[in-house]
Amino acid sequence: MGGCVAQVGYGYWGHNQARNLNTLAGRSWRYLVEPVAQRRAQAAALYPHLRTTDSLDEMLTAPDVVAVVIVTPAATHAPLARRVLDAGKHVLVEKPLALRTADAVDLTERAERAGLVLMVGHTFEFVPAIQRMRDFVVDGEVGDLLYLHAQRLNLGRIQQDINAFWSIGPHDVSIANYLTGADPQWVSARGARYLNQDVEDVIFVTVGYPGGVLAHMHVSWLDPTKTRRTTVVGSKRMLVYDDLDTEAKLRVFDKGADRLAADAYGAWQYRLRDGAMYAPALPMVEPLAAQLSHFLDCVHSGHKPRVDGWNGVRVVAALEAADASLRADGARTPVRLPAAAGRLDSEVR
Ligand SMILES: NC(=O)c1ccc[n+]([C@@H]2O[C@H](COP(=O)([O-])OP(=O)(O)OC[C@H]3O[C@@H](n4cnc5c(N)ncnc54)[C@H](O)[C@@H]3O)[C@@H](O)[C@H]2O)c1
Repeated sequence: MGGCVAQVGYGYWGHNQARNLNTLAGRSWRYLVEPVAQRRAQAAALYPHLRTTDSLDEMLTAPDVVAVVIVTPAATHAPLARRVLDAGKHVLVEKPLALRTADAVDLTERAERAGLVLMVGHTFEFVPAIQRMRDFVVDGEVGDLLYLHAQRLNLGRIQQDINAFWSIGPHDVSIANYLTGADPQWVSARGARYLNQDVEDVIFVTVGYPGGVLAHMHVSWLDPTKTRRTTVVGSKRMLVYDDLDTEAKLRVFDKGADRLAADAYGAWQYRLRDGAMYAPALPMVEPLAAQLSHFLDCVHSGHKPRVDGWNGVRVVAALEAADASLRADGARTPVRLPAAAGRLDSEVR
């Protein structure tokens, strides 16, 4: 890649991005912008070649910086990404792309107009098990995709400014969009505020997709057990991805219920299939490294990233609909996507 890279933000997740940036970009990673002096000092000790600064302007006006990775709190994503794009630099923004659909659309159109790469950190689209699940769906291995459900639970990383769905739910919406290969159509969400009067700690969300496919998501930072699981139920097979299972992250179940002819009384008969289970071998890849590597490749080649701004818009629009549904006591709320987003199912199917 010609030119240098910069990172903005060096908190909890920024440490992980930095480790990968150092491995993948080496000395081409030139700048770190971080307002907290102690964090800048930590980074400078680990990566002595870096120029660390609290000045975004200093980095933005550096002509050798061509690409920027933003790893800051969600509320800062849109304003920071806008400034990076306006400075003529490519950008990788952590999820969620923005806190409002209008901002996510604006960033995406801004990048398109300027011919710049805008990629969103939907890291799970780079997880080998999730990619294999997508293959199973596309290849017809699961049969008709019926529904999916996800749990993203933990005790902790409690946020004050955004609710649990905005904090960890972007992953589950991006996974569901990716696995269904379709745009979310409506959302129904209910949640509760136990710790903080301003934001929900636990949220139960249902997202509707074309063809009656449902995706149910349970997110919480107030739960006794850490759980990271996505289950896909198809007419032929069922898949379970458990990110915490070190031996078999993905299990494929030959299970299902086949409808037979109606009996003499007109009642349908079912044959349950309780067949074998196997765990496919998966490549050992750090998803964050794969994501960053893809971003740097796109910057270099000018190719559109797999997880582009419109991908970010689809997630933000579903999250925004979930907010409206939470306020309306779980009412089914349409996901409003601009026509410019195109249709996901027309791209991937
Ligand atoms: N992809 C993933 O799997 C994943 C996992 C965890 C977090 N994240 C995302 O990473 C981002 C950061 O999360 P975190 O947990 O590291 O938060 P954090 O609060 O630990 O760190 C954020 C850092 O950004 C700095 N910062 C704040 N405003 C800034 C500004 N205007 N300019 C420069 N720096 C600024 C803060 O000082 C802090 O060091 C969030 O968007 C979060 O959603 C992604």
